[in-house]
Amino acid sequence: MNKITIAIDGFSSTGKSTVAKQLAKYLSYIYVDTGAMYRAVTFYAMENGLISATDFNSEALIYQLPNIKINFKFNEALGFAEVYLNNVNIEKQIRTLEVSSFVSKVASISEVRRKLVEQQQEMGKDKGVVMDGRDIGTVVFPDAELKLFMTASAETRAERRYQELIERGDQVEYKDVLKNVQERDYIDSNREDSPLVKADDAIEIDNSHMTLEEQFNKIFQLAKMTI
Ligand code: C5P
Repeated sequence: MNKITIAIDGFSSTGKSTVAKQLAKYLSYIYVDTGAMYRAVTFYAMENGLISATDFNSEALIYQLPNIKINFKFNEALGFAEVYLNNVNIEKQIRTLEVSSFVSKVASISEVRRKLVEQQQEMGKDKGVVMDGRDIGTVVFPDAELKLFMTASAETRAERRYQELIERGDQVEYKDVLKNVQERDYIDSNREDSPLVKADDAIEIDNSHMTLEEQFNKIFQLAKMTI
């Protein structure tokens, strides 16, 4: 069967990764969560004292970029790939609200983007990939055969993210999660390098009122029609 590249972009917490993982599984494609890569760099910056609520030493981070090795390893039990930073599994550590609160700053640095985009292009060079992020259809794979752009209201997205964080035992308040979602939307959409925009040829899907199943069925049909 003909293998294609599927780019899924959109605002934070639109459920991109849930549907992308499912799609990759059904199609036997590779799934790449590019947000996890930006989160991994952010986690590195936090662990190494380069970023805090009051300070961000972006020059030191740029200087240390060659020391940052990110890769994914498939976890059979979970059925998806987990992210590793310098050979340490950091899948759980990168999903905190604290990492979320710094990640958009880190992701606006061009040197960080250049490094990660190069790695993403390498991972997807043989096609047969579902990649989700903010710039996949515009920058990473502008020639992707299928491009989706996911949206939902900020409140819907914050509610979903809040539930996820509570379920994993994090002590967070809904208002802080909503504030983070809105802040990231703003920074991601207004940064100079590769801002979050819908590619001209992307299909927009507003999933505010869709169940996960409805959303998956719609996207699976689109994929089947394209392959
Ligand atoms: O997808 P997720 O919410 O995990 O992404 C975290 C952050 O990483 C985004 O808010 C954005 O700042 C950044 N990002 C990006 N480009 C991508 C993927 C994520 O700038 N391709």
